Amino acid sequence: MSEKPPRYASWTHGKLPLPELAEMKRRGEKIVMVTAYDAPSARLADTAGIDVILVGDSSGMVVHGRESTVPVSMDEIVFMTQWVARGARRPLVVGDLPFGAYEVSDEQAVQSAIRLVKEGGADVVKLEGAGSSVARARAIVAAGIGVMGHVGLTPQTATVLGGFKAQGRSGDQARKLLEDALALEAAGCFAVVLEAVPAAVAETVTSALSVPTIGIGAGAGCDGQVLVWHDMLGLYEGHAPRFVKRYAELGAEIVEALGRYAEEVRAGTFPEDQHTYAMPDEELAAFRAAASPPRRGG
Ligand code: KIV
Repeated sequence: MSEKPPRYASWTHGKLPLPELAEMKRRGEKIVMVTAYDAPSARLADTAGIDVILVGDSSGMVVHGRESTVPVSMDEIVFMTQWVARGARRPLVVGDLPFGAYEVSDEQAVQSAIRLVKEGGADVVKLEGAGSSVARARAIVAAGIGVMGHVGLTPQTATVLGGFKAQGRSGDQARKLLEDALALEAAGCFAVVLEAVPAAVAETVTSALSVPTIGIGAGAGCDGQVLVWHDMLGLYEGHAPRFVKRYAELGAEIVEALGRYAEEVRAGTFPEDQHTYAMPDEELAAFRAAASPPRRGG
């Protein structure tokens, strides 16, 4: 008897099921997450076996040239999420709720999350902070949408944190960070990002939580890691935090390629025959005859 395809196979297209992340934590398998902001990048991440793609508001800085993530709008995240969702088959796509899209009320948060899922095609959403974000997360989860939390350095509120700097470095701060992460877990978050916190604190938080932690600048003890696409691939020229490891220097490669292109265009050595269309000789002759100016007095 032939095996029946899974009932919802055509819906999921081999998508990593959300509960699998908790299973990975249980099995001690690391979760690999990266940001991406367009379809070709998402396709590359998928091909490379990345588990989770975050359509982060870091786009405001690394793609759109802003000084911070604060001005990023819902429309921008919705557009970019659509592009990423088209390129990512297996990885879970996380749409990042930008600053101003969830702070006002639970209703606002639920509406924004629904928009990211329904219009953007996100599988789940992420929000920053604890405090009122805990209630927002609970409301979004109650609406049937998975939520990833994010504590430690929360770039949307970096000003009140005193800038882009490590968090949880005193006993009190570390205790608060643990409480915040536990509160997000209790609110139903399926994972929590820990950004720029001491590795020892992240390790303790990771053991205290039953849901996975995803670290960025939080040491190797987290259940997974996330890096920003442009940072890790050498495509961002701005300040890179100490936790960034550059796995490639694509910026330098692109400059070199563009330089060669410019040289060849200026020298007339590009395009060559192989880059050019031909036409049958008789068609060309007819065209040239028709295109030549009529002789005067003829
Ligand atoms: O927006 C983003 O890219 C993020 C990651 C740094 C976690 O929030």
